[in-house]
Amino acid sequence: MPTKKKNLSYPLWHPYLPMNNIEEEVTMLVEGKGCRVRDQHGNQYIDAGGGLWSIQCGLGHPYIIDAITKQLHHLSYGTLFDSRGNEPALLLARALVAMSPNPLEWVYLTGSGSEAVELAIKIARLHWALKGRDDKKGIAYLDRSYHGTFFGSMGVTALIEQKKEFGPLLPAIFSITAPDPDRCPPDTSYVDFSINCARELEKLAVEGNIAAFIAEPILGAAGVIIPPKEYFQTIKEICVKYDVLLILDEVATGFGRTGKWFATEHFGIEPDILLLAKGINSGYLPLGAVLFSEQIGNTMLEEKCGLGHGSSHNGNPPCCAAALATIDVIRNENLIEKSVESGAYFRSRLEELRVYPWIKEIRSIGLMLSVVFVQEDGRNVTQEQVDLLCKALKNRGVLAYPGGASLVFCPALIISTQEIDEVVDALQAVLKSVRLHDGEMDFVAKAEALT
Ligand SMILES: Cc1ncc(COP(=O)(O)O)c(C=O)c1O
Repeated sequence: MPTKKKNLSYPLWHPYLPMNNIEEEVTMLVEGKGCRVRDQHGNQYIDAGGGLWSIQCGLGHPYIIDAITKQLHHLSYGTLFDSRGNEPALLLARALVAMSPNPLEWVYLTGSGSEAVELAIKIARLHWALKGRDDKKGIAYLDRSYHGTFFGSMGVTALIEQKKEFGPLLPAIFSITAPDPDRCPPDTSYVDFSINCARELEKLAVEGNIAAFIAEPILGAAGVIIPPKEYFQTIKEICVKYDVLLILDEVATGFGRTGKWFATEHFGIEPDILLLAKGINSGYLPLGAVLFSEQIGNTMLEEKCGLGHGSSHNGNPPCCAAALATIDVIRNENLIEKSVESGAYFRSRLEELRVYPWIKEIRSIGLMLSVVFVQEDGRNVTQEQVDLLCKALKNRGVLAYPGGASLVFCPALIISTQEIDEVVDALQAVLKSVRLHDGEMDFVAKAEALT
């Protein structure tokens, strides 16, 4: 047996963060109910990030817990390998087909959003290979995208700094300009700029070897970028014209987050492949899904071709039971309507904070909101400044995530107006006590604090 050199008291490696000094910084959550959580020191927080933008129905929902518990007693494990099936997985697949925003006939259940992206890329390449188009391997993506951290999903993610060090990455991936309003030239309307961005797909597709284009309908990690309708309409036209499959990643935007079941509905476009995870089961257990069209399914059926993909937890019964229960709760508690109403209220309260010079923009759709910050001299804030704002907000009892130059709020859809008030009041207290300049964030003395 190898001798242990050192006994680390915190041997748990976290995503992204350097692990130096993490032990002192870690907020160990020990309890949560609804939108509220408590840490190991007894500090209470409102979780305005909804876990990781996933806890649609709030923490500790008895109906979902009951469904998971019942399923654990009934059949605690199941696989879809070797032609075995299980009822919750089938019921969930049927439910997803029935509720998909456009006709999508098939469902493959995954263990995460990243895995769903991975599989979507495989399906797109396989589809064209089966159609005799072995040259069609290219995957186009947006240069402000976030699609996950596996090799394929990281490949099509722009917002991961270590991509270079992890390379070589997936071959034949091509980024195009995201319709980020921040980059819109002053003499061009945002709609025209977005259409120009979409046209970059055409430049790539004209060569003929682009298999698919993947995008988030609303770019979450980039700071809640909401493209105009015309953007996706142009994208769809290009996809149809050049035989490019459209993959929409609704991992963050699905299940009521944007005030509709799926964000795709805001744009009226029909993806060939739709990706889901996070809110699919309120984040209670790991689960994702890939929905794909009859046409893609038929290509595989005609060739009697299986799908070279599978993991021990695809179609796991308790994970699927949690999803079925989540769909019930969203319906029974009118959480889509709540997302619209509470989103509008949250937005109206945030608008009051525009008196502070650090706010450049507020973006929102349903309960997906971001506050974009700016420095004293008009320059964009740095990542460090956004991290410090996040920390300051946490010190005032609110958890949220940074997204580009902004703070992103994606609370549970059950958030109350009182909880929204607490979040906005905390943000206000932070904004009036800071100064953002030269890449720094200073706390100003009480007497100087902005009113
Ligand atoms: C749009 C989008 N796609 C994919 C992912 C990756 O999902 P997961 O973290 O479940 O792997 C995320 C995660 O934040 C996401 O926001």
